[in-house]
Amino acid sequence: MQRGQLVILPTETVYGLAADAANPRAVAALYEAKGRPRFNPLIAHVDGRDTARRIAAFDARAEALAEAFWPGPLTLVAPVRDTSAVCDLARAGLDTVAVRAPDHALAQAVLAGFGGPIVAPSANRSGRPSPTTYEDACEETGAFATVRLDGGPCRVGLESTVVSLLPDEPARLLRPGAVTREAIAAIVGALAPADKDARRSPGRLTRHYAPDAPLRLNADFPEAGEAFIAFGPDRQGLGVLNLSPAGDLSEAAANLFSCLRAADALRPRAIAVAPVPESGLGEAINDRLSRAAGKIG
Ligand code: TXA
Ligand code: MG
Repeated sequence: MQRGQLVILPTETVYGLAADAANPRAVAALYEAKGRPRFNPLIAHVDGRDTARRIAAFDARAEALAEAFWPGPLTLVAPVRDTSAVCDLARAGLDTVAVRAPDHALAQAVLAGFGGPIVAPSANRSGRPSPTTYEDACEETGAFATVRLDGGPCRVGLESTVVSLLPDEPARLLRPGAVTREAIAAIVGALAPADKDARRSPGRLTRHYAPDAPLRLNADFPEAGEAFIAFGPDRQGLGVLNLSPAGDLSEAAANLFSCLRAADALRPRAIAVAPVPESGLGEAINDRLSRAAGKIG
């Protein structure tokens, strides 16, 4: 990374494709490898709050959230500091920056060894499901990486929650994720929705997480030629794939992207997905499913 090269990096959420956040050429190569639109900024990964404070202006709400959830799957968007090492291109030219401290021993070891912020978008090519295993990460963008680190399957399986904390603005939920809305609200109060100003939540503009086959959501049974992704005990035996036979949302989150990939590999006419409750982690799971189905974003 010090030479401007890319690295496949495991985190607790999903695998990332990592680069030196301060090196515009490395960051340009990263956008290119992912086929990512350059208006969509990247998350700067840091070892913890001290480094984060040198990059972003944290208010009391950001401090409280970092204290509660870091290291962990929560990304905070705050005004960028003049002294920030994160290059303009990595921020897509915005005056804000997204930061998160990953809860993963290998990612933390890389951050400690590297000594500066590391940008790491999910290691999928833009628009595809995020990789949650080493093999899937290598298949997506491994060819662009000089070093590929195998951390085994990701514990959480769903990307971090993205919350913006800007001056004179309510805390906004830009992307539901592994830390639930309820857990965040318990600390900073109810979350406002993403700003209508698309520049403030650019991630909402792009098509996301999509397998090749079309998705049919809230399906009780598969139709002819469809693969089926079930959820919960009732639907066991109907299909080969089940997000969580026990109906557990954490397990479903961890299995979501690998189930989508496994269903896609069957080359079905479509992938039917059973209903998933909207409570807790279900909000983030349903967000990913709706985007994969092309219903939002
Ligand atoms: O769990 C994760 O967050 C994973 C792992 C690898 O850390 N990373 C990840 O990165 O999901 P990516 O690039 O796939 O998603 C980053 C999201 C995008 O929706 C992007 O628009 C948003 O964060 N984002 C980044 N900087 C932002 C900013 N300054 N303002 C608003 N949104 C921002
Ligand atoms: Mg992504």
